[in-house]
Amino acid sequence: MTDILVARNVSKTYFDTVAQDNVVALQGLSLAVRAHEFVSVIGPSGCGKSTFLRIVAGLDKPTSGEILVSGAKVTGPGADRGMVFQEYALLPWKTTEANVEFGLRLKGMAKEQRQQITQRFIDLVGLSGFEKKYPHQLSGGMRQRAAVARVLANNPTVLLMDEPFAAVDAMTRQRLQEELTAITAHERTTVLFITHAIEEAVFLSDRVVALSGRPGRIVADLTIDLPRPRKWDDVVRDPRFNAYRDELTQSIHSNGPVNGAARAHA
Ligand SMILES: Nc1ncnc2c1ncn2[C@@H]1O[C@H](COP(=O)(O)OP(=O)(O)O)[C@@H](O)[C@H]1O
Ligand SMILES: [Mg+2]
Repeated sequence: MTDILVARNVSKTYFDTVAQDNVVALQGLSLAVRAHEFVSVIGPSGCGKSTFLRIVAGLDKPTSGEILVSGAKVTGPGADRGMVFQEYALLPWKTTEANVEFGLRLKGMAKEQRQQITQRFIDLVGLSGFEKKYPHQLSGGMRQRAAVARVLANNPTVLLMDEPFAAVDAMTRQRLQEELTAITAHERTTVLFITHAIEEAVFLSDRVVALSGRPGRIVADLTIDLPRPRKWDDVVRDPRFNAYRDELTQSIHSNGPVNGAARAHA
């Protein structure tokens, strides 16, 4: 299968103005995401996950290395990469409908086609009936659904998500995860998903890439062979789910600060 997104030897060093020292956030990260693949990148807080996604999105520049999307080098943000953040990426003064339609309007798409696509994605994320509501009139979960619809309506080559469900309650979060797997399978979306929640990554993904503590290096790249469609009730009963979770937990910890510190004292 074709590689849609390729990260080649990506490193990022920040200068910490308080400590007056360099912070190596990422070191030589290489990763390829194939067409229609759902890949999650996990790792402890501060290991460089958001840094990596921002570089893929073109919002930040790598210190060295490069990102290719459909073979073309990323030099800045682009409509080929749709991003959903933890914070609700909606325009507060626009209705659900207007938010979802926004990118299509920018593209100069004709009204009728625009409305058709907008309605399709609003229906797909389960927000029918809420077209005329403003973000403050929606629950947190509904706002994230609207954000997903807004991004998918633009038909991005790859969907980038940075801990998009971190701020919603646990029950809603599981529902949103089930919905996201159904939607991205239906739309055959290529997804790069960032989270520090290992179970979330296993549940959603075709592949999970685990990073060590800062600087983030790949310590595991695991194919998740669980049947789709996925529902939490079934997945948690599948012994493979626990096996994947345990393997990833071990990979992260054996390279993370906990064991590292223990080793240093041994
Ligand atoms: N703009 C910045 N300037 C300086 N240091 C930064 C900046 N952004 C991130 N960092 C540092 O880089 C490391 C990785 O951050 P980040 O990518 O946000 O981690 P994660 O998303 O995995 O929690 C952290 O140590 C963080 O403090
Ligand atoms: Mg982050």
